[in-house]
Amino acid sequence: MAGMDIGIDLGTTTIIIYMSGKGIVLEEPSVVAVNTITGKVLGVGEEAYKMLGRTPEYINAKRPLKDGVISDHEMTEIMIKDFIKKVCGTLMIKPRVTICVPSAITDVESRAVVEAAVSAGARKVYLIEEPIAAAIGAGIDISLPNGQMIVDIGGGTTDVAVISLSGIVKSKSIRVAGNHFDQAIIKYMSSTHKILIGEKMAEKIKREIGCVYNPDPDIKTIIKGRNLIKGLPEKIEISQEDIYPSLIAQASQILTSVRSVLDSTPPELVGDIYTNGIVLTGGGAMIKGLPELIKNEIKVNVVLADNPVECVAIGTGKSFDYIEDLQEGFTNASTYKH
Ligand SMILES: Nc1ncnc2c1ncn2[C@@H]1O[C@H](COP(=O)(O)OP(=O)(O)O)[C@@H](O)[C@H]1O
Ligand SMILES: [Mg+2]
Repeated sequence: MAGMDIGIDLGTTTIIIYMSGKGIVLEEPSVVAVNTITGKVLGVGEEAYKMLGRTPEYINAKRPLKDGVISDHEMTEIMIKDFIKKVCGTLMIKPRVTICVPSAITDVESRAVVEAAVSAGARKVYLIEEPIAAAIGAGIDISLPNGQMIVDIGGGTTDVAVISLSGIVKSKSIRVAGNHFDQAIIKYMSSTHKILIGEKMAEKIKREIGCVYNPDPDIKTIIKGRNLIKGLPEKIEISQEDIYPSLIAQASQILTSVRSVLDSTPPELVGDIYTNGIVLTGGGAMIKGLPELIKNEIKVNVVLADNPVECVAIGTGKSFDYIEDLQEGFTNASTYKH
């Protein structure tokens, strides 16, 4: 029996695991809930997500990866171990694991991630950079001497990168992504309508009617929240056009970083990008109108990857096809070197 290979996208919003021969086997929110008195882990993933914002004082439900960095090492390790065990529980042979880590991660944090995977039973652990994984997942042959631009928009960060010959030529990471669109909606509701809404409600509105190109005043939704002046629950109808200015302000920052990466990219590769187009990945890229907005402003063809949310995980799992291009694999954290 051939050994099993798995790829883990260690996203700040969602953790997704791809297994060779099976495809996506796990997709859960990156949340851990802990009893702060006993220190006991009460839930990981979906289970812990349900507790977010609804916990009594002694329970702490939080996202250990925040804004594209690891804000809590211990909880991140618990989460990695739990998820690997969940998908590999009955495997006879220890798997090889590739992990896609957030771009801003430090050396110490990378080591902790490797350690967690090894102690969860990985035979060998590889790390891969997110734009490379996203490109493989989008079906691009990364080994060619051909410039490709990938824009991955997650929950906390947007990563813009130019790839050629299996390496990153230019890249930029900014802290503007999906969650910032949600925050912009919350701010709009409280400043313009004096209504307080929660993060989950804001995300729902974004998915339903959020748009960053040619907004339609006839597309509307009902928003429920609490009136900040009267303190009472209230319902109000909002259109796509109403929230557009708040959302375009965020999208413009993404546009600026795309422009700045293109400006610093060598001319041959810019030529390639004009031929190949720009590929968008990540859940944040699913906001309506984003490909059209970038296409219209930058004058380059823009496509949304087929599975924007799963793209990085798929590419991480398939990265074993490019094994010689990956960083050296680690069998334990002490062999970890950069
Ligand atoms: N259909 C959708 N429309 C707009 N935004 C979406 C949609 N689906 C997911 N998102 C957003 O994608 C972001 C998460 O993207 P993801 O790639 O899973 O993040 P991460 O890499 O940080 O784990 C969230 O902000 C979420 O609201
Ligand atoms: Mg991601």
